[in-house]
Amino acid sequence: MDAPVRRLSIDDLPACQRLAEDREWGREDRKWRFLFSVGDVYGVDDGNGGLAATVVSTPYGKDVAAISMVLVAKRHERRGLGGRIMRHAMDEAGTASLCLTATEMGRPLYERLGFRTVGSCTTYTGEVDGPSGHGASVPATAADMPAVHALDTEVFGADRAQVVDGLPAFCETFNVVRDGSGIAGFGGVWRNDGRALVGPVVARDAGTALSLLDEIVPPGPVRLDIDHRHPELVAWAEKRGLSPFFSTTVMEYGEPIANDPARLFLPVAQALG
Ligand SMILES: CC(C)(COP(=O)(O)OP(=O)(O)OC[C@H]1O[C@@H](n2cnc3c(N)ncnc32)[C@H](O)[C@@H]1OP(=O)(O)O)[C@@H](O)C(=O)NCCC(=O)NCCS
Repeated sequence: MDAPVRRLSIDDLPACQRLAEDREWGREDRKWRFLFSVGDVYGVDDGNGGLAATVVSTPYGKDVAAISMVLVAKRHERRGLGGRIMRHAMDEAGTASLCLTATEMGRPLYERLGFRTVGSCTTYTGEVDGPSGHGASVPATAADMPAVHALDTEVFGADRAQVVDGLPAFCETFNVVRDGSGIAGFGGVWRNDGRALVGPVVARDAGTALSLLDEIVPPGPVRLDIDHRHPELVAWAEKRGLSPFFSTTVMEYGEPIANDPARLFLPVAQALG
């Protein structure tokens, strides 16, 4: 496994998906394509036309980069490849901070690299009946986007302009709650492997976030990645009959990120924060 780490292009998507399937992850076509459009995707060739490892680093200006899709093929694991490709992404990012959401399998690797735990997250899944509220939010228009961008930057603690600009196209539903002075919150839902993934949800308070959820979550299979700092979201999920699926650890590296977790209700994706 001495092949160098190289920058991947969208042509490498099928190999990325074969690697993900090797680790029992889904194909996540929509998510990979979005990550290729906003992030830097790196990989190590396995010498047989496939990939032995991948990592994605999505930079948000000079402040933060979100690390994701850290995958090493089973047949190549525990030989230092995960550490090598992570160090490459960390060196290339050049941002003051890094953030990621770690699986139990990945956490020891990130701790060894100097990441620290800042939170925990539980993924809830199940089937819901569909919207139970209406009237609080409206589909976002182009005129709302500057206010969406400003609120996102304030709450996330870094300028995610490229991701925010892509949300109306990436999401199947992307709503805002308008108030007299601008935007009180925004929420999106996108399709991931046949499930509606709910996020982002950013709002000035829990009431606004919950009214967004009541309006944007479609009927059928859904997934919410809920930070433990938001018990009101756990209560919402349990009331709608969703169950805990797996838990992850939210980690940071470098300068503490100047975000506001109280108003960051759901990430766009664990891969993007
Ligand atoms: C998590 C993952 C990326 C780690 O990849 P990896 O290539 O095995 O990582 P490394 O080899 O750098 O480190 C893994 C372990 O092997 C050990 N190791 C590294 N080089 C070694 C060597 N030459 N001989 C023996 N052990 C070695 C490390 O010390 C480490 O041990 P620890 O976990 O007990 O601390 C991989 O297991 C994976 O893809 N898992 C499934 C997907 C996933 O959960 N990814 C994380 C997403 S957040």
